[in-house]
Amino acid sequence: QTKSNLKIEDETYPTDQWTNTTDQILSHVGRRLYLDENHPLAITRKLIESQFPAPVFGNHFEKNPVVTTRQNFDVLGFPQDHPGRSRTDTYYVNDKTVLRTHTSAHQQAYFQQLNRNEKTRPEEVGYTVIADVYRRDAIDRSHYPVFHQMEGAMLWKRPDNNPLAQSAETAAKIRADLELIPAHDVVVEDPNPTIHAQRNPLQAEHHSEEEVEAIGAHLKRSLERMVIKIFTEANKAAASSGGEEPEPLKVRWVEAYFPFTSPSWELEVFWQGDWLEILGCGVIKQDLLINSDVPNRVGWAFGLGIERIAMLLFNIPDIRLFWSRDERFRSQFRAGTITRFEPFSKHPACYKDVAFWLPPAAVTGGSSAAGGGVPFHENDVMELVRGIGADLVEDVSCIDEFTHPKTGRKSMCYRINYRSLERTLTNEETNGMHEKVRSKLVEDLGVELR
Ligand code: PHE
Repeated sequence: QTKSNLKIEDETYPTDQWTNTTDQILSHVGRRLYLDENHPLAITRKLIESQFPAPVFGNHFEKNPVVTTRQNFDVLGFPQDHPGRSRTDTYYVNDKTVLRTHTSAHQQAYFQQLNRNEKTRPEEVGYTVIADVYRRDAIDRSHYPVFHQMEGAMLWKRPDNNPLAQSAETAAKIRADLELIPAHDVVVEDPNPTIHAQRNPLQAEHHSEEEVEAIGAHLKRSLERMVIKIFTEANKAAASSGGEEPEPLKVRWVEAYFPFTSPSWELEVFWQGDWLEILGCGVIKQDLLINSDVPNRVGWAFGLGIERIAMLLFNIPDIRLFWSRDERFRSQFRAGTITRFEPFSKHPACYKDVAFWLPPAAVTGGSSAAGGGVPFHENDVMELVRGIGADLVEDVSCIDEFTHPKTGRKSMCYRINYRSLERTLTNEETNGMHEKVRSKLVEDLGVELR
């Protein structure tokens, strides 16, 4: 079924060999769960926005997920061979157009807007923006191909001529703003130096160490306070429902890499036995600011996944629930309050395995350069299953993989766990879906069933 156009949010886009966006995925566009005021994603949005208030921050959302590859990758300095650009990871509308994979696709537009509004709203030097983002990925209880991110940034003006020579002035301004953010008493592990020549370099041609120390300190304290606020609420909700002692909060900074910030960090929170990555952030690359009409400003940016945080806040065990229209889910939440989700009866799971030989020339993960066969990527299996089972599939995992010693052919076995969040699936229904998966694997990926 080859369609020559895709219609998304009243706009028509021509398709081509790059197109891999399905109707199943497009059916999520326009739900705007973050505006649905009694929905946990909207409640979480409000809670985070309250930490980045006017007049310093404008709080925004972006309805249309369609952006150019320029906005999503090029402007942000993604190298040509970055895996994020590949069709196995990203939903392409056509070769020049994608469903945004992150809210950073809007950074440039918001920087330009800060510049345009400079006269009318001089105190507004930052923003937050929330939006739905799309990634081809695994299927399990914490991954869904559509999720929500919130991005935030804050900028400071530097002297117009030779800002680097006068960077002490800028650093002092940022330090003064840092003093305005109340300190907190949560212990934060932060063992690494702000700048590391190899792992987390200074943009030496643009920034002084002093400026970056100041920006980093302001960034870290701002985000720590936000996370502390969120987890204090989560612990209060947990304690008031279960009566248990709130867990003491443990937070740490780790070094990170993003093409559009340097130095960069991730913030992790210790939650129920594991370190959990909550957000990515860093000092914005000056080249990006120069290309976004604000050459004489410096600053920080962060991006965080809303579902991650909402799952913790509301104790929501499966990411598919956010999309549920079931009143037993929706009626549990009220604007402005954090409550613990009470699971309505858990319906039985039914898992089924499918084993197959890859086509002879296929290589896992790589390109088809050598053999000319169809390259095999696990995300294609995920997408195929999603196209058939949609939200009735809870989890897909590879449970076995081996290469035949004589023929060199590779065999894979996937386990698909079928479960509805809302009802018990009948055997016929599950078998029917699984049969379709099996034949579509042969049709689309050219595998040989075992
Ligand atoms: N866009 C990044 C991601 O999706 C997060 C990020 C945002 C990092 C802003 C740094 C600055 O992983």
